[in-house]
Amino acid sequence: MSEAIMSEAIGEIGRLRARLKEVRARGASIGFVPTMGALHAGHEALLEIARRENHFVVASIFVNPLQFDRKEDLDHYPRTLEDDLHVCDRCGVHLVFTPTQAELYPEPQMTFVDSPALTSTLCGQFRPGHFRGVATVVLKLLNIVQPDRAYFGEKDAQQLALIRRMVRDLNVPSEIVPVPTIREADGLALSSRNKHLTPAQRAIAPVLSRALRQAVELIGEGERSAAVIRERALALFAPWPEARIEYFELTDPQTLAPLDRIDFAGPVLVAAAMWLGSTRLIDNMSWPAQ
Ligand code: PAJ
Repeated sequence: MSEAIMSEAIGEIGRLRARLKEVRARGASIGFVPTMGALHAGHEALLEIARRENHFVVASIFVNPLQFDRKEDLDHYPRTLEDDLHVCDRCGVHLVFTPTQAELYPEPQMTFVDSPALTSTLCGQFRPGHFRGVATVVLKLLNIVQPDRAYFGEKDAQQLALIRRMVRDLNVPSEIVPVPTIREADGLALSSRNKHLTPAQRAIAPVLSRALRQAVELIGEGERSAAVIRERALALFAPWPEARIEYFELTDPQTLAPLDRIDFAGPVLVAAAMWLGSTRLIDNMSWPAQ
């Protein structure tokens, strides 16, 4: 028999709102960590920071169909609810929101959050509709939970930029708190999708973070041309033709606009996506390091 789970799991919006009303009435601050489950040490970092900074922590676990541009990706997305609840327990999460699709989308969604300027670059060019689905579900979740603070990983830099801007543009009264990327010892950023890598692909995967680090080091050494930085970083992939680079860009971290030259003090976001077989990995690093 599995051990008792202390975090309370609630699937209905009405019950969640009633519970959080009590929490707010006693003056407790609420921290919120939205996730799609398959929790790993990256998610744990968000949960632990939320726990330190708030009296009461809510996590959500919902695999959001609206943000999947490939059906096979949605079908293969790992679902590990029982393990996830143990992770939430261990991290001191008070309440886990686990809605069904019918609970969050009882009718076809007719209203969406669109941010074309922030979603036409980087991943947005290759995943049509993805960020619209992300922004829409995150706004729904923020409206349901109404947290004082919500926590997002820097691992998903475009998602973070989009959510920060959405909250400013739409006057959402929650503070968005960024959390640095958690990595394996060899540099690979933790991701639920790493599970899909074969041992051979897993051995190649850290080249992505090495190339990003190389780019950031070149900027640090004074190289100013984005083309030169890109070329030198991309050369690191040459021994592994099975690694297919989707993009490798230097951008402004707020507007996500591509940069040709870095003739300012930064910050610069270097972001990349790479395919290994049918698994897509993303990662990024900033200069100067934050
Ligand atoms: P998911 O991929 O489950 O990620 C949940 C949160 O964990 C995101 O803010 C993500 O940036 C963060 N995260 C993932 N890997 C990380 C790592 N290695 N280090 C630090 N943080 C990491 O992102 C989503 O879910 C969804 O798009 C969601 C926001 C929940 C909307 O559906």
